[in-house]
Amino acid sequence: MSLVLDSAAQDLLFREARTANTFTDEPVTDEQVQAIYDLVKYGPTAFNQSPLRITLVRSPEARERLVKHMAEGNQPKTASAPLVAILSADNEFHEELPQLLPHFPQAKDAFFSERPVREQAALVNATLQAGYFIMGVRAAGLAAGPMTGFDFAGVQKEFLDDDHTPLMVINIGKPGDNAWFPRSPRLELDQVITTV
Ligand SMILES: Cc1cc2nc3c(=O)[nH]c(=O)nc-3n(C[C@H](O)[C@H](O)[C@H](O)COP(=O)(O)O)c2cc1C
Repeated sequence: MSLVLDSAAQDLLFREARTANTFTDEPVTDEQVQAIYDLVKYGPTAFNQSPLRITLVRSPEARERLVKHMAEGNQPKTASAPLVAILSADNEFHEELPQLLPHFPQAKDAFFSERPVREQAALVNATLQAGYFIMGVRAAGLAAGPMTGFDFAGVQKEFLDDDHTPLMVINIGKPGDNAWFPRSPRLELDQVITTV
């Protein structure tokens, strides 16, 4: 009774949502991606810096190039998912800060003139946005299969550049047959929350 989100939405986003390992061949359209992005772009980031970048791997040729960088156990699902996205952190996100923070354009130079500072901020905030993105995929009635089991340097070289750090690869689609591993337990509240 403490949650205001209706229980069907709670199930869709959390309780019944699972990490999919197989998919049907129903396509994921650009319209669905647009709807997901239009929702999750409102998730908060520090200074509104919004450093997440998403590479949609749509062509069979690009898919083949990606699959070869995936860990062996991740290859079949990455080869067969209707849509695969490479999520990366833009370490040069400060270039967009005047657009993103119009009431404080000095932030770009005052806080983010140094690359190591930007890399740290981009890692934290783009990873946060990756979480929002997974929830957005679920909100579209789709399943996500996030993966960090891949050759990061290989994916960066093949698809990105020195300014973009790969974070994860996500398979997206409707879950197929035997899509789930058994649900693993979660920590109890008192293992996680300390009140001081
Ligand atoms: C950042 C991240 C990386 C992951 N990497 C892999 C991976 O490389 N291979 C894989 O099979 N599952 C991977 N997973 C899936 C997790 O094991 C799975 O989401 C977790 O066990 C929860 O499963 P559930 O959503 O079905 O409860 C990853 C998940 C996340 C969020």
